[in-house]
Amino acid sequence: MEEIEMSGVPKTITIQNKTKDELHTMARTFNRMIHRLQENMEKQKQFVSDASHELKTPLTIIMNYADFLRRHGLENQEMANEAINAINSEATRIQKMAQTLLDLATLENESFLEMNELNLVSLCQSVLNQIKPVYKREISLHYEEDPFITRADELKIKQVIIILLDNAMKYSKDRIDVFIEKDKQHAIIRVKDYGIGIPQDEINNIFERFYRVDKARSRETEGSGLGLNIAKSIMKLHKGEIKITSKEGVGTELVLFFPLISL
Ligand SMILES: Nc1ncnc2c1ncn2[C@@H]1O[C@H](COP(=O)(O)OP(=O)(O)OP(=O)(O)O)[C@@H](O)[C@H]1O
Ligand SMILES: [Mg+2]
Repeated sequence: MEEIEMSGVPKTITIQNKTKDELHTMARTFNRMIHRLQENMEKQKQFVSDASHELKTPLTIIMNYADFLRRHGLENQEMANEAINAINSEATRIQKMAQTLLDLATLENESFLEMNELNLVSLCQSVLNQIKPVYKREISLHYEEDPFITRADELKIKQVIIILLDNAMKYSKDRIDVFIEKDKQHAIIRVKDYGIGIPQDEINNIFERFYRVDKARSRETEGSGLGLNIAKSIMKLHKGEIKITSKEGVGTELVLFFPLISL
């Protein structure tokens, strides 16, 4: 343990003692802790490398266009305009991504949650009212009884619902249905679209950070592949769950499970 403290490199220790005494238990606990640390460090490394990779593309575009402007100035008005617009939109993309990454970093911390009793029906209604004027898409809300109460951080859950609706709008053209229901232990929100769907072998990846199905297909739609990962982290903080079913060419359904509170 002293060696680990000196070097700062976490590694497991060899357990020599075969008897099941307190030292043995302590060594095993220590090793489990080191394992968790190693896993987290690995994830962090992966995250930093993914994030820098994602920033590289817009930065390259900005540099190329800036270079073009430096060499040719405004002599060709049309090209100059294209350059300026591209620089502007790529810079906006980086800015959005930076904000999302900051959000992700604070999300890892449970104490940031402001938990209150929450009625999912009025919550969904308020999100839909907020979104409708902007997106001009038919979104219907279905529920049979009122209220559906859970304990949750209102702003965070709104964010999850907006992430799901944003996807439904990007990856489908038809109407969108939102169902609120319950089973024995959960309040449930289902967001269902009738769009392009997701191939079966990609479904397990879409909650990964920066993952987007088929880069070519998703190039037409903007996004950085962070939405569903954020949604998943928020649901985990609420001791809830997020599940997906999808069929290519038919549609996609995202389901949120919240612990139910009965009145
Ligand atoms: N409703 C849906 N229908 C079809 N594909 C979807 C749907 N929701 C998500 N996907 C696929 O999963 C990928 C990951 O979704 P996610 O929301 O995490 O990222 P994004 O929408 O690409 O970007 P953003 O960070 O802006 O949300 C998407 O790129 C898309 O390929
Ligand atoms: Mg998204």
